[in-house]
Amino acid sequence: MNEQTLSMRLERVAAQVPAGARLADIGSDHGYLPVALMRRGLIAAAVAGEVALTPFRAAERTVREEGLEQHITVRLANGLAAIEPSDGITAVSLCGMGGETIRDILERDNMRLCGKARLILQPNGGEQPLRRWLMENGYRILHEEVLRENRFDYEIIVAERGEPVAYTDLELYFGPLLMQARSEAFLRKWQRRLRLKQRILAHQAAPEEVARHVRWISELLEP
Ligand SMILES: C[S@@+](CC[C@H](N)C(=O)[O-])C[C@H]1O[C@@H](n2cnc3c(N)ncnc32)[C@H](O)[C@@H]1O
Repeated sequence: MNEQTLSMRLERVAAQVPAGARLADIGSDHGYLPVALMRRGLIAAAVAGEVALTPFRAAERTVREEGLEQHITVRLANGLAAIEPSDGITAVSLCGMGGETIRDILERDNMRLCGKARLILQPNGGEQPLRRWLMENGYRILHEEVLRENRFDYEIIVAERGEPVAYTDLELYFGPLLMQARSEAFLRKWQRRLRLKQRILAHQAAPEEVARHVRWISELLEP
């Protein structure tokens, strides 16, 4: 993967960034996502935010090598603190972090989003608490997908502020749109999860939550 060839995961994220967006990519690491989108002429401007010095320098280098300093601002900052009001950000991507980390980043500086920006989230686990935060903070889920790459199942969740919506516990766990669509990738993911959780239940004293999830997944997969 580099600034020209994104992983399939980041390609699917890129496809959810509206044309002409002013993107804030938080936790940008090498800055590959904003740089690829800018090179393709798909976004108007971007901020690449990084909390750690080594990835921050890597993002600065990628932007410099591509000659995109006029269009992509790289900032060393914690979460949404990378965004300034004058950036006019219309889309925020938070990818490749745990769902709880993404939720905490959103919670900490939520006001910086002014409620207008589309959120494009790719959590590595912790989807349920992240969806709960979205619901409790006036976001509606517009798009969800599951994809598998390098033996990992990834979920992408796209949300925007909208009419209040109440998701059930099952919808928060599986994803309201994913549950409806029941794609092949989604069913395979949950078949694998079920086997894993059943093994945990069989071999160790697991919390009650694991038994509940096994029940939910078994019911989901029933023909
Ligand atoms: C696994 S990398 C993912 C990089 C890229 N977004 C992707 O999906 O390929 C996670 C990055 O998030 C950064 N990160 C973690 N917490 C952060 C925070 N609070 N604010 C900004 N960046 C953060 C880490 O330093 C790391 O570079």
